Amino acid sequence: MSDSINMVILAAGQGTRLKLDIAKPLCPLNGKKLVDYAIKGIFEFSTNLALKSSLDFVVGHKKEDVQGYLESTYQDKQLSFVVQDQQLGTGHALKCYFDSCPTAWDNEYTLVSCADTPLINAYVFEKLLNHLKTENLSAVCASFITDNPRGYGRIVTGEGQGFKIVEEKDATDSEKKITEVNSGVYIFKTKHIREYINNLSNNNNSSEFYLTDLFQLDYAVETICFEDGTQFCGVNNLVQLELTSKELCLRKIRSLQLSGVIFINSDAVYIDDEVEVQSRSVIYPNVTLKGETRVGHGVTIESGSTIVDSHLEEEVLVKSNSYIESSTIGKASVIGPMAHLRPGSILGYQCKIGNFVETKKVKLSDGVKVSHLSYVGDADIGERTNIGCGFITCNYDGANKHKTVIGSDSFIGSDCQMIAPVNLGSRVFIGSGSTINKDVPDDAFAIARQRQITKEGAAKKFLKNKK
Ligand code: UD1
Ligand code: MG
Repeated sequence: MSDSINMVILAAGQGTRLKLDIAKPLCPLNGKKLVDYAIKGIFEFSTNLALKSSLDFVVGHKKEDVQGYLESTYQDKQLSFVVQDQQLGTGHALKCYFDSCPTAWDNEYTLVSCADTPLINAYVFEKLLNHLKTENLSAVCASFITDNPRGYGRIVTGEGQGFKIVEEKDATDSEKKITEVNSGVYIFKTKHIREYINNLSNNNNSSEFYLTDLFQLDYAVETICFEDGTQFCGVNNLVQLELTSKELCLRKIRSLQLSGVIFINSDAVYIDDEVEVQSRSVIYPNVTLKGETRVGHGVTIESGSTIVDSHLEEEVLVKSNSYIESSTIGKASVIGPMAHLRPGSILGYQCKIGNFVETKKVKLSDGVKVSHLSYVGDADIGERTNIGCGFITCNYDGANKHKTVIGSDSFIGSDCQMIAPVNLGSRVFIGSGSTINKDVPDDAFAIARQRQITKEGAAKKFLKNKK
C-alpha cells in the first residue's frame, strides 16, 4: 500500500524582498512561473511512489492570483488551497493548513516545501521519506553546505541527537559562521506536527511563528546534507532570481548539447525552459529563444536573433539580428539579416525574407522571395512570386486593416505599393515604382507611374554649379 502523505507548499508569503508588485510564486522565470518549477519535483515524487495524495497550497498574499493561475494551469491535477489571511510566519502557515484540513491529521507523513525553491528535484523528497522511515525519525530536513549562508536558517547541532535551526535574524555571530543551512524542505511524521505545532512561539527577532522550530536539539530529527546545494537556491530577491535563471538556462543548454545541438559560444545564449531544439541545429552567441518556440533539425540561428513562440522547420537559416514572433517558417527558408517577422507570419518551403523586411499576418507560399527593405502586412502571396526591393502593402486606412492578395509566379518590380484591399492574379508583372489600387487579372502587366519627361540641356537651371 502506498504511504499516506500530505504534500504542502507554502506560498502565502508577501515576497517583500523581491520588490515587485506581484505574488512571489508568480514571478516569471525562464518562460514559466517560479511556482511551476517548485512543484515539478513534487509531482514527479508522487508519481514515482504512486502516491494518491493531492497537492495542497497555503496561499495568502495575492491569493486570488496564485490560486487562479494554478487552477487554470494544472486542470488535470488534484490541487487544493488553504488561506493564511495574515502572514505570521511559516509555522503559522502550516498551522493554518491543519486547522483548515482536519482530515490531514490522518495521513501518516507531511511533506512541506516552499514555492520559492525552484531547482529542487524529486530525488530529494524520495531520499527524505526513505530516511525518515528507515531511521524511524519524527522529522527530516534537507540541508546543504554553502560558502554564502546569509539569509538561510543555520543548522545548529549539540550533544546527542537532534539539531535546531536558527534564522539569520536570530543568529549569534558564531552561529552566523555555520555553513550548513536549511533548504526549507522537510518531511515530518504528522503526529510530530500535531504534538508540537501549538507550542511554536513568535518570541524572536522577526516576531514570526517559525516552522523551523519544529526541529529542536532533543527531538528525534535529522538533516540529510545534500552535496548539490544549487538545487535549494531560494528565490527571495532579484539577485537570487537571476542566479536561478542562469542555472536553469545552463541546464537547458547542457541537455540540448547532449542531444546534438551545437552552440558556438553559449555564454550569452538565453533559452526558456520549454523551448525545443532538434539535433544538428547551430546556435550562435547572443541568441534568445523564448516561450513555445520549436526549432527543427539542422536550423542555424545567427547572433543577435530573438525567436519568440515560433516554429522553425528544418534547415531554416536565420541570419544575424532578426526578430521572429508567433510565426511559422517553412523548411529551408532564409530569414534576415535584420528581418522582423511579427505575429501571424506563415512562410512555406524555401522562402526568402531579406534585410530590413517586416512582415505581419502574412501567408507566403513556397518559394516566395521578399529580399530587401519591404513591409508586407495582411497579405497572401502565391508560390514563387518575387517581390522587389522597397515594396509596401498599404494595409491600414487609419481605421481598418485591408488585405493584399497576389497569385503565384508573379513579379513585382521595385518600389511598388499595394493600396489594400487589392487582388493581383497569378503570373502578373508589375512595373517598378507602381502604386497599385485596382485589381490586376492573371497574366496581366500593370504599371502605375507618371511618364518620364526629359528636357535636354535643362539641368543647369537646377544645378548649383552652373558651369
Ligand atoms: C525559510 C526558512 C529558512 C530556510 C529558507 C530556505 C523559516 C522560518 N525559514 O526562510 O530556515 O533556510 O526558507 O529557502 O521557515 N510563507 C508563508 N506564510 C508566511 C511566511 C512565509 O506561506 O507567513 C511561505 C513563503 O511564501 C515562502 C516560504 O513560506 O514560499 C518561505 O518563506 P520565506 O519568507 O521565503 O522564508 P526564508 O526567509 O526564505
Ligand atoms: Mg525564501
